[in-house]
Amino acid sequence: MNPPIPPTIGVFDSGFGGLTVLRALLPLLPNANYIYLGDTARLPYGSKSHDTIARYAVSSAKFLHEQGAELLVIACNTATALALEDIQQALPIPVIGVVEPGAQAALSLSTKNLQCHPERSAAESKDLRFASAAPDRAPIESVLVLATAATVQSHAYTRALNALNLEANEKACPLLVPLVEEGWINHPVTDEVLKIYLTEALTAAPATQTLLLGCTHYPLLEPAIHRTLASIGHPLTIIDSAHATAQAVAAHLNLSPQTSKPIAQGSSLCTFYATDSIEKFQRLGSNFLGQPVSEVRLIDLGG
Ligand code: DGL
Repeated sequence: MNPPIPPTIGVFDSGFGGLTVLRALLPLLPNANYIYLGDTARLPYGSKSHDTIARYAVSSAKFLHEQGAELLVIACNTATALALEDIQQALPIPVIGVVEPGAQAALSLSTKNLQCHPERSAAESKDLRFASAAPDRAPIESVLVLATAATVQSHAYTRALNALNLEANEKACPLLVPLVEEGWINHPVTDEVLKIYLTEALTAAPATQTLLLGCTHYPLLEPAIHRTLASIGHPLTIIDSAHATAQAVAAHLNLSPQTSKPIAQGSSLCTFYATDSIEKFQRLGSNFLGQPVSEVRLIDLGG
């Protein structure tokens, strides 16, 4: 039988944060071809209105489809939260966002925690919050979601987590994207900003057990977030949706890691496009991708 034809996967983000999702896809689907678009001219999406985000996201998605994408990954939490349906309606190809896989990752962690700590299941079954949960549903675990202002206002994560019987608290962290964009991932100012955000969020939701990074820029801050949580005496398990999204793409394509054996490390063909600042994209993008970002092509998608 012929091996499956490697698909062309379009990966889209408002900037280079979505490279964290591409980074997770590459080892899982090494034979696929990837076209990545960072809409750097119109970044940030996270402080804009629904209509503007949908317009930007749909035009970016259409561009990737025109370049030959057979499946689109919206590797941007804000675009997923506010424009997933608009993009799905605009394109005749499958579209996968990051919110649903992120919520699923939180559920998997919650289930694993309960298997490791069966005493918690017993204690929690006495908790009134669990009384209404159907027996086949996971007991409620409290998840704190850090995200952009637009993602938080959409409550897309709350809906996705509540649908899995997980409790959600969302915290908008508008200063984090510019700090990461500046490359200040290990910087006292960033630590101070994180301390303020996390202290506010955990004061409002002290029962939080899990921290979900609901923005593609935030995985780069994971060491700083761990450091800050330790300093305020509230260590948490941190999850991001990049790996869960990559798994969802593999599942959708019916390509398990077994059927999609690597030909050779790095055999994927990656083409990068950006709408502005290609030098910065190349320079900072490598931090997100974990390997050098080769040639980046400049394109104009209008305003
Ligand atoms: N990519 C966006 C997200 O994941 C963050 C950057 C922006 O605001 O555009 O929400």
